[in-house]
Amino acid sequence: MDYKAYIAEHIAVEGVTKAEVAEAIAVPPDAAMGDYALPCFKFAKLLHKAPNLIAQELAEKYPADGIVSSAEAAGAYLNFRLNRKALAADFFREFALEEEGAGYGSSEEGAGKTVCIDYSSVNIAKPFHIGHLSTTVLGAALYRIFKYLGYNVVGINHLGDYGTQFGKLISAYKKWGVKEEVEKGGIHAINDLYVRFNAEATEEMEAEARENFRLIESGDEEANALFEWFKSLTMRYVGKIYDRLHVTFDSYAGERFYIDKMQPVIDALKNKGLLVESQGAQVVDLEKYGMPPFIVLRSDGASLYATRDLAAAFYRKQTYDFDKCLYVVAYQQNLHFKQLFKVIELMGEAWAKDMVHVAYGMVSLEDGAMSTRKGKVVWLEDVIDRCVEKAKNVLEEKNPALENKSDVAEKVGVGAVIFGALYNNKIKDIVFSYDKALNFDGETSVYVQYTCARCASVLEKVKDLPMGERANAPIGEREFELIRALGGFPDAVKAAAKNYEPSVIARWCVDTAQVFNKFYLDCKIAQAETEDLRALRARLTRATLAALTRGLSLLGIGVPEKM
Ligand code: ARG
Repeated sequence: MDYKAYIAEHIAVEGVTKAEVAEAIAVPPDAAMGDYALPCFKFAKLLHKAPNLIAQELAEKYPADGIVSSAEAAGAYLNFRLNRKALAADFFREFALEEEGAGYGSSEEGAGKTVCIDYSSVNIAKPFHIGHLSTTVLGAALYRIFKYLGYNVVGINHLGDYGTQFGKLISAYKKWGVKEEVEKGGIHAINDLYVRFNAEATEEMEAEARENFRLIESGDEEANALFEWFKSLTMRYVGKIYDRLHVTFDSYAGERFYIDKMQPVIDALKNKGLLVESQGAQVVDLEKYGMPPFIVLRSDGASLYATRDLAAAFYRKQTYDFDKCLYVVAYQQNLHFKQLFKVIELMGEAWAKDMVHVAYGMVSLEDGAMSTRKGKVVWLEDVIDRCVEKAKNVLEEKNPALENKSDVAEKVGVGAVIFGALYNNKIKDIVFSYDKALNFDGETSVYVQYTCARCASVLEKVKDLPMGERANAPIGEREFELIRALGGFPDAVKAAAKNYEPSVIARWCVDTAQVFNKFYLDCKIAQAETEDLRALRARLTRATLAALTRGLSLLGIGVPEKM
């Protein structure tokens, strides 16, 4: 239950909404003061009254009940105490969802609504590099989170599979390529060819590349067969990484898919009088909105990335009738999406307001920032491999007797890479450090995974104990803190969806693991004094394991049974 909202429901402050009151309620740093507190300074100006007077008056009026047992004024604060038994009962009631298999914190709030999510969107024949990490894991996390809340979700990999570079690639392959080597080297071999072309191309070769691109376009069999081959090599390669990151898609409709779907949209722009000529190009003028023109067709008549995105937006609306269409793309493309959404709005489409650019910051490596020099990029696969390798070393050191070390290292290493990209507010630039990401005592996925393993090993010890409801067990401070933390999960999931911010769940995982570990250190579980207490604590341990596992799984991170 959302206790802040519950309390706010019973507080009337003139001119302030219940939601605002709920927002103002906080958890006091010292539990001795209360379980929740409402600072009344905020209302002083509005009510022309001293904050401590306000607190006093509100305290007198507050109707204590079976859930909130008291409301007391202390200076400018109004402190609330919850009935801990009621809270525990309420938590276990909600948590029953988990035992029923639906998933604690899942809901049907999204029933009947569709969310399209465009993420990862790799470029064929180009490196799948660390710059693709965030879009891939953020998008996939949002995908799972929205599904968990009952939405119909469409995951779209908007492949970068159109452009003159494919003409260059064909030229390079014909000049230097060896079939077997390329087959074997896959995306790296293709990329090498492409890089070599850019380094060595003469005028003549450039012309030939343009011709090759034209051949793809005009349906030439050989050129298309080569293109499809390059594409399949790329997809085979990225597919393996997607598997490791637990990322899936419902559609791989990329830029090429929209080539024959642009004309109706261009016609619509024309009919609405939005298309104007500028230096030979066809553009939508956005000067009034403080933006450069949105170029629809180049002076040679060629379409652009933006044109294909415009066609894709209409296609998605028509095909999926989405309630929201998200684009998980780096902030470097802020302007592109602002322009795109504005153009759709100018076309009179009401759904323009449902388009969301979920922008995120840059990821770089602590030991060597991503270089933009030709051919010098940090491949995502190398980062994952290295992290798994390091995870193996750390595990070896911590627990040499551990079984299935490779499997555990894969979960820990991959988890650390994912968590590294999801733990911070998404818009922040991130410097990824292997050592920090693999710190057992840090704000890391390993820490959370380790806490899960700790829960599992406690549960192993109490597996023969009956864990049924024990209404008589006293709820002490540590149990209460844990229940409150666990009880926050449904709200964390909701907030993550609402703000397109999986970091809310990542933080919840770390915070809750910390609370559990305090509980674990201070309270005997298997050896608790009474059977009631043992049952309660065991139940809480089981709930912690299940909830943390849920939290991590929404982020795409697995939990080893032992660590
Ligand atoms: N392939 C593009 C890139 O690497 C990202 C595409 C994002 N999606 C979109 N619909 N524009 O920059």
